[in-house]
Amino acid sequence: MSETTNSRFTPRIFSGIQPSGGLTLGNYLGALKRFAALQGDQAQTIYCVVDLHAITVWQDPETLRRNTREATAAFMAAGVDPARSVLFNQSQVTAHAELAWLFNTVARVGWMYRMTQFKDKAGKNSENASLGLLAYPALMAADILAYQATAVPVGEDQKQHLELTRDIAAKFNHDYKVEHFPITEPLIEGVATRVMSLRDGTKKMSKSDPSDASRINLTDDADAIAQKIRKARTDADPLPGSIDGLKDRPEARNLVNIYAALADETPDQVLARFEGQGFGAFKPALAEVAVAAMSPITAKMSEYMADPAEIDRILGKGAERASEIATPILERTKDIMGILRSR
Ligand code: TYM
Repeated sequence: MSETTNSRFTPRIFSGIQPSGGLTLGNYLGALKRFAALQGDQAQTIYCVVDLHAITVWQDPETLRRNTREATAAFMAAGVDPARSVLFNQSQVTAHAELAWLFNTVARVGWMYRMTQFKDKAGKNSENASLGLLAYPALMAADILAYQATAVPVGEDQKQHLELTRDIAAKFNHDYKVEHFPITEPLIEGVATRVMSLRDGTKKMSKSDPSDASRINLTDDADAIAQKIRKARTDADPLPGSIDGLKDRPEARNLVNIYAALADETPDQVLARFEGQGFGAFKPALAEVAVAAMSPITAKMSEYMADPAEIDRILGKGAERASEIATPILERTKDIMGILRSR
């Protein structure tokens, strides 16, 4: 059904990353690397540093500004080209916040309480979480639907939020008897949709994990990357010849998947080379692949960060282009809802 509904819309890809602390290899493989690869396909690509999402938990203002620039640098270092994609920070396009308010009247409170990310982030004392943290998915739906985006590349952890985006679009279309919003397709593809912690193969690699050894940061230098891989938790068994043999070995499976994603191979291709070998052989090879792939990105990020004024200029320009797309869609939404506009 979404296929036919969406065929009415211009193919458009939207995605975002929060500037809430340094980015990780998970963000790179699950998101940034794929964002770059999607450019130049048939669809227009729109990428956003979602600062309004970041402030749903406390952010030091100076650090937030720096992280917003650093996330922008990471997009560009990963290959997102501001000439081929629209690249901007969310708060500079006011349509996001406005549409989010309209969606707050469409989404149901119960939908929000069911979100696992809310439960995880709010923790035991959820009464004390910010109201923004609860309403977060309505803002995310607004990010996407302000552009009538038809597809959204994300990692596995965002799947539930995208289902809610589809629910909001469907309820809006149904309540107002229109086909105004597409039913957005999640693009959760490849071997790195869920990169796991280097210390615990059952936990997602995350910038909020207290252990720095659990993740590779996009700002880590070659020595740090190699050392973290060397110390990554594994088991004592040799590697099997195919990924099926790693079902009950989450740490081993994670490292093989990371290798495959970095080297643009399938896990089975990687295992065909390392079958029968232990981690004494595999880890140094992985470290080499990781350093070769990540060092140019880290280097480019620091080059971009050396010129913050240029980053700000790029974001401003991107925001103008984004606004040109989002404003008419927001205005049409208001008209549909009966919100009077007279200027
Ligand atoms: P955020 O900032 O937590 O993560 C950004 C992107 O990185 C992916 N990701 C991972 N992928 C694989 N393995 C991991 N360990 C890993 N960690 C993070 C995430 O899935 C995501 O794609 N709510 C979103 C940001 C957002 C958004 C949007 C995304 C706001 N509005 C609209 C898409 C469309 C978030 O917190 O992502």
